[in-house]
Amino acid sequence: MPSKILVIGAAGQIGTELTLKLRDLYGTDQVIATDIKERSPEALLNGPFEKLDILDKPRLYEVVKQHGIKEIYLLAALLSATAEKNPSLGWDLNMNGLSNVLDLSRDGHIQRVFWPSSIAVFGPNTPKNSTPQRTVMEPTTVYGITKVAGESWCEYYNNRYGIDIRSVRFPGIIGHKSAPGGGTTDYAVHIFHEAIKTGHYECFLSKDAELPMMYMPDAIKSILQIMDAPSESISLRTSYNISGVSFTPEILSKAIQKSMPEFTISYKPDYRDSIAKSWPSSLNDELAKKDWGWNPDFNLEAIVNDMLVNLKLAV
Ligand code: SER
Repeated sequence: MPSKILVIGAAGQIGTELTLKLRDLYGTDQVIATDIKERSPEALLNGPFEKLDILDKPRLYEVVKQHGIKEIYLLAALLSATAEKNPSLGWDLNMNGLSNVLDLSRDGHIQRVFWPSSIAVFGPNTPKNSTPQRTVMEPTTVYGITKVAGESWCEYYNNRYGIDIRSVRFPGIIGHKSAPGGGTTDYAVHIFHEAIKTGHYECFLSKDAELPMMYMPDAIKSILQIMDAPSESISLRTSYNISGVSFTPEILSKAIQKSMPEFTISYKPDYRDSIAKSWPSSLNDELAKKDWGWNPDFNLEAIVNDMLVNLKLAV
C-alpha cells in the first residue's frame, strides 16, 4: 500500500492534473486534494478534498496527522504576474508556505516533498540560450526571488535535517484541462481558447518574447520521474533545469494558423513583457537527463495539435 499523499494547491493548473494522475496511480482515497478554495473543483470530486490555507500551520499539521500523510506535493504559490501586484503576499505565501511544509518534514511527520521552482529564478544577467544549471541568477521579480530563496531553503533543510525534497524548475506549462492563473507564460494557454472562441488573440507579450514552455503531460511526467528516482540519484537538492520546447508568440501563432488559417494575433505588451524578457529563452537540462532520466515527449507541433483537438472537443 503506497503511503498517503497530500496535494496542496490542488485546484490550480498543475495541481488539478497532478492529483488526477496520482489518484490513477495510487488510488483515489490515497490522495488528499487541498486548496485555499472552499470547494473542490469538479474534476477532483472523485476523491477526498480539504480546504487548507498553507499559511495556517496548525491546520496543516492537523490535516497531515488526521490523514496519516507521508508525502506532500506543494503547488500553492502566487505566480510571477500576480505576485508583482502584491509583493508582500507573494513573499509570505511562497516562502512561509514552503517553510511550513519543510518543518513538517523536519519534525518527522512526512517522508518526501515535491516543490516546483521555476525559470523565474533567472534574470536579465543570466545567459539567455541553453541556460546552464549553475549560472548567474539575479531574478528581478518577487516570484523569482522567492524561488531562488526557496531552492536554497530546500537544500539547507536537506543538508541539515536529511529531508528528501525534490524539485524541478518549470517553464511555462500548457494544458487544456485546467486554467493557469497569474503567470507571465499564461498567454500560451489563453491563445488557444481565444483562437477557438473568437479567431483572434491580443497578446500581452511582444511577438519576439521567446520563452521555455512545456506540455502538461511532460510536466506531470517530470514530477513522477523525479519522485520515482532512488534518493541517491538526486545529486542536486536545489532544483533541476528541465526543458521542453521554446518559442515566441509569433512562432506559436504561426503554428496555430497551420490548422486554423483564419486565426489572427495582435500585440499589446504590458508589464509582463519585461518579466518575460528577463527570463531565459531555453535551458540546458543535461543534469536532469543524467540523474533521473528526464526525457520530454512533446514538440511544438504535437502540443498545438493536441490542444486544438481537445479544446474543440470540449466546446
Ligand atoms: N509560469 C510561471 C509564470 O509565468 C513561470 O514559472 O509565472
